[in-house]
Amino acid sequence: MANNIRGFNSKFGTIMAATGGAVGLGNIWRFPYTAGSNGGGAFLIIYFLFVLFLGLPVMLSEETIGRRAQKNVLGAFKVLAPKHKIWMVPGLISIVTAIVIYSFYSVVAGWTLNYIIASASGLLSGKSPDEITEFFNTFTSNSIFPLIYQFIFLLLTIFIINRGVKDGIEKCTKILMPILLLLLIVMCIRSLTLEGAYKGVEFLFKPDFSKLDGNSILDALGQAMFSLSIGMGALITYGSYMLKQDNLFTTSLWIAGADTLVAILSGIAIFPAVFAFGLEPTSGPSLVYIVLPNVFNSMSGGTIFAVVFFILLTIAALTSTISLLEVPVLWANESFSWGRRKASLIFSALVFVLGIFCSLSFGCLSNFTICGKTVFDLFDFITANLLMPIGAIFFTLLIGWYLPKADVYDELSNSGAIKPKLFNIFYFIIRYIAPLALLVVLISGLL
Ligand code: PHE
Repeated sequence: MANNIRGFNSKFGTIMAATGGAVGLGNIWRFPYTAGSNGGGAFLIIYFLFVLFLGLPVMLSEETIGRRAQKNVLGAFKVLAPKHKIWMVPGLISIVTAIVIYSFYSVVAGWTLNYIIASASGLLSGKSPDEITEFFNTFTSNSIFPLIYQFIFLLLTIFIINRGVKDGIEKCTKILMPILLLLLIVMCIRSLTLEGAYKGVEFLFKPDFSKLDGNSILDALGQAMFSLSIGMGALITYGSYMLKQDNLFTTSLWIAGADTLVAILSGIAIFPAVFAFGLEPTSGPSLVYIVLPNVFNSMSGGTIFAVVFFILLTIAALTSTISLLEVPVLWANESFSWGRRKASLIFSALVFVLGIFCSLSFGCLSNFTICGKTVFDLFDFITANLLMPIGAIFFTLLIGWYLPKADVYDELSNSGAIKPKLFNIFYFIIRYIAPLALLVVLISGLL
């Protein structure tokens, strides 16, 4: 069905590409430790509610903006709100956000590459917990090696982006995402069949509301936004590639559903194994890089599972970095007629320079702080707590207040070809609830 000149070829390809963008380090690296440090089960319930009532409607709004305008993230606002320059703001914020996220995200993605090699070559096997911690600290604080891996990761992403939207992004995510799911299921089976696994399952699914506080709620929302890739225009960009005959409601349900499923499966792959070996689930960002290698060391066939796990993490990260780089690439392509190659090289070079500061945050720049945060933490904080909620507020205001309701309905009903039953609920949330809720989050995140 090669009827879409601009973007993706099929609904399946669309869902794979967008789910690939959403499923990433956020699901497999960040979700388990965020859920772990917020008490597990109770956090999961709040997280679900945010995905359903805020994440999904914002995702749908972004897709509507992109598909209606058929343009990049800045161009879309120029098309839909040509008279008011203020609407350039969310477009510009989105481009900056994509570049900033990419620069710290690619650091962690680079670590993952190193862990594939270290696990495959047996460097981690037979090591004591202290030695594994030291391996992580020595590697991440080194000034050169992490940068080399980050560089390789940027090249991989450029390679795919250069092949174009259909032959690069769509084709590659259509192959990688099913592999990712398969590897994840293998990991879940291994984890669940360990003795004592039930304690991890209980931790993940049995809600203990006493562990929740105001911060957990903020964490849940931040995690939901980051994980669904909303509030920074990736889904406006991909939305502009979506087929006119696709039902955007079902497309969004698939993406959000698959993203949430992968987060839960990651929890199932990680917590039962962590508990089975008597380790702590709440160890923060190092859960995946320190606790898990210990788990692998203690299980039979651990080396293979370690390699499988870090390949899985690399795939997840790669399909996300593709969606991050595509945001500025399409913008430069449509605004200044830069070719994809030129655009991807220039933005990747910029990301690499910023990435150097992020990477060195774990080494020689660990004492260099701005507002008490290292560059890495600052970039994470600015994007998740500031730029993404601001972006999302603009998107909801455009759909809920600025554009005529009839236009929004026209886009979501494919000009009357389908009758989206949930339209009124969606519109109500986007007009009243989402902007207010996001504003509350934005303000409390800054306090
Ligand atoms: N959603 C991705 C993840 O969970 C991260 C991401 C955020 C990717 C924003 C693109 C845009 O890892």
